Formats: sequence, structure tokens, C-alpha cells
Amino acid sequence: MTHASLTDTSHTDTSHTDTTELADTSQSGVLAQPYAGPGESGGPDPAGTLLRVEGLGVSFAQPGGRRRVRVLDDVALTVRAGEIVGIVGETGSGKTTLARAIAGLTAPDRGRVHLAGEDIAGLRGRARRRFRRVGAIQFIFQDPLRSLDPALTVGTSIGEGLAIAGSGSRAQRAERVADALRQVGLDPAVAGRLPAQISGGQRQRASIARAVISDPALLLCDEPVSALDASNRNHILLLLDELRQRLSVGIAVISHDLSTLAGIADRVVVLYRGRVVEDGPIAEVFARPRHPYTALLIASAPDIHGRDRHAAARLRPVGTSRDPASRRTGECVFAHRCRFATDACAETPPRRAATDHPGGDWVVACHHADTWRDELDTAPAPAASRKDFPT
Ligand SMILES: Nc1ncnc2c1ncn2[C@@H]1O[C@H](COP(=O)(O)OP(=O)(O)O)[C@@H](O)[C@H]1O
Ligand code: SF4
Ligand SMILES: [Mg+2]
Repeated sequence: MTHASLTDTSHTDTSHTDTTELADTSQSGVLAQPYAGPGESGGPDPAGTLLRVEGLGVSFAQPGGRRRVRVLDDVALTVRAGEIVGIVGETGSGKTTLARAIAGLTAPDRGRVHLAGEDIAGLRGRARRRFRRVGAIQFIFQDPLRSLDPALTVGTSIGEGLAIAGSGSRAQRAERVADALRQVGLDPAVAGRLPAQISGGQRQRASIARAVISDPALLLCDEPVSALDASNRNHILLLLDELRQRLSVGIAVISHDLSTLAGIADRVVVLYRGRVVEDGPIAEVFARPRHPYTALLIASAPDIHGRDRHAAARLRPVGTSRDPASRRTGECVFAHRCRFATDACAETPPRRAATDHPGGDWVVACHHADTWRDELDTAPAPAASRKDFPT
């Protein structure tokens, strides 16, 4: 992936890593200071919210440049300090674009991204460089080699930002690297090895050490366990759970797979074709989803309540096309596949608080959120086919 057009042009560091791109290491200063927001004029959101995304829209020019394709539309979500928010959606739904827009690596067309009360999407020039320098937002990728240089020892990669910023003596930096390795459950001796000399699970831990060494406020984890076996998967998820408690860091875990989020996330945000269709407390959403697409995802996931083939069959989409061209302008983003669609669904449903959660901690975008289930309960189960279910 190339980010050339997205990076700050004053950024002289040409490191290969994506995480380095988030920290403007061309500036002198302390890379590892905690990010506390914009200072006296800002401060934490009154509701205790660390990250607040509102009305975020991102579009990309199509080859030839004459048309733009909208990839994210009116996306809103929040993450509190110490909270894990799962972001789930099928491949192509816009999860990575959302993470990149939050981190400032992809320019949004519209909307706001507030971190600790500061509008970070609107930062320009020196303010933007200062924000990047403190490393308040860090990425964890599916492939840890996107943040660990295969040619450098693990310790050098983890301490790279500190070294470039000239933070502390060599010995102090080595101690900080050792601390970061301990934080993620690795022996500090791992610092002297190359990424190829440690296991895949250890590499992912090391990439997490590289992220936490700058004391971030927010970790954006994009499919962090998708490439790992079941045992390493659980270890990494447990580690993220420990870190949010120990460091009070807010964590967004992006996954195409609901079961990854089941054990650790407090909340789940469900994306479908670039729109948030449901956002609520994960245990309650899993128990009684309010959006037909969320219900389909849950019924099709083997590890949630055991795959519910009966429910999945009843929720089976009426269409299978994922071609954006099949969508009529303005209609509900799920209408072309939804078996509960009516004429009302020709208009985009507004986000509404779930009826029994008027405080707004559970929102759903469906005209028939309160009634589609009645139809489900009475409808005969159609013959189902695995290929119709999202993966
Ligand atoms: N830089 C880009 N230029 C053009 N289209 C892009 C770019 N990045 C992503 N897309 C498109 O945006 C859509 C969402 O992509 P992505 O955010 O990677 O989804 P996900 O992470 O959910 O799989 C896809 O159709 C993808 O092809
Ligand atoms: S708004 Fe209509 S088409 Fe969209 S999910 Fe709800 S019932 Fe289905
Ligand atoms: Mg992705």
C-alpha cells in the first residue's frame, strides 16, 4: 500500500513502516510523551469520550478520475479510554479506510474526528506535526512486518521512534524497549533477534510493543489476529484486554469476523457498505440484534451462540449482488439484500436509539428495527445456502 499522497510533505523520514508514518520523526522533541489533548482550551470530552467520529465521509477517485466512489458515508462512533470497540463488516465495507481516516492517513471529504476533545481531522501545519510527533494514535496490522523491519533487530524497530527523536541516552532507550517487551509478555532478550528469528505470535507482540512504547491514547488494530493460529489469537486478544486495563488506552479492533470480538470488545460497530448500521453493547447486540444485517452476521458466525442455521436461513438475503451499481441512490444500504425491505426503505434510514436504550448507547439504522423480527418469527424457513452468508 502506498500512502505517498497522504503523508505530510514536510515529513522527511522515509522509513518503510506504516506506524512510523504516524509519528513525525523529522521534528526534534519527545516522541514518547503522553497525548493529553490540545491543552487548556480543549481537554477530554465531557462525556469521558476519548475518540469521537461524527459524519465522516470518504470517497476515492475512480481510475480516470472522472467519478468518485463513496467508501464511507456519515460514519459516527465513539471510543472511551480503557474501552475496546469492535468494528466488524465484510471485506470491502470500509473498515481499513475508516481506521486510516481516523489516523489522518486518508483525507475525509467531510466529518469530524475528535481525540481527547481536539478536532484532529482539521489539524494543519505545525499543529498536525505536533500531533503526529506524540504518537497518540498507533496502528497494529494483521501483518506485523508492516511495523517491524525484517532487516533490523526487534529492539531497534521498537525503539526506532525514540532514537530518531533523540529521546534519552542509548541505555535509557534500551531500558524503555525492554519495558515495552515486558508489557507485551516477551522476554527482553527478544530485542536482539531479527523478526524472522521469532514466531508469528511473538512478532505480533513485538509490533504491539512498538505501538505502546509511545504511550498512545488510542490503538487501531486492523485485523490483528487474522493471520494467527487459534492459540496465538487468544493470547493476543487477552493481551489487548490487559493493555486497555493497565494503560487505560482506548482500542478499536477491526475484524471481518465477529467471533474475534466476542470475548474482548465492550461495544460493536457494524459497518455495511461504508455505513454504520448498528452500534451498541456487544453482549446485548449479540443476544438480540436490532438490524437485519447484524442478525444475519450473528446467525452465520459459528462461535457466537453456535451457528444458528435456522435463523440464518430465515434471514437469508433476497439478493446476493455486492455490486455497488445495484444500489439505488438514497435507499437503505442493505435494501438490495434485505428480506424485510418495504417501500419506506427507498430512503436511507436515520440512526435512531434502540427503543429500550433511549440514552443512545445503542443505535440502529433500520426503518423497521422494531418490527422485522415479528415477520421473521412467522415466516417459513427458506432453503439456505452457505454461499449466501457473509464471511
Ligand atoms: N486508496 C484507495 N483508492 C481507491 N479505492 C480504495 C482505496 N482504498 C480502499 N478503496 C476501496 O474502498 C473500499 C473499502 O476498502 P477497505 O477500507 O480496505 O475495506 P475493508 O477494510 O473493510 O476490507 C473497497 O472497495 C476498496 O477497493
Ligand atoms: S431499512 Fe429496510 S432495507 Fe434497510 S435493513 Fe431495515 S428493513 Fe432492511
Ligand atoms: Mg481491511
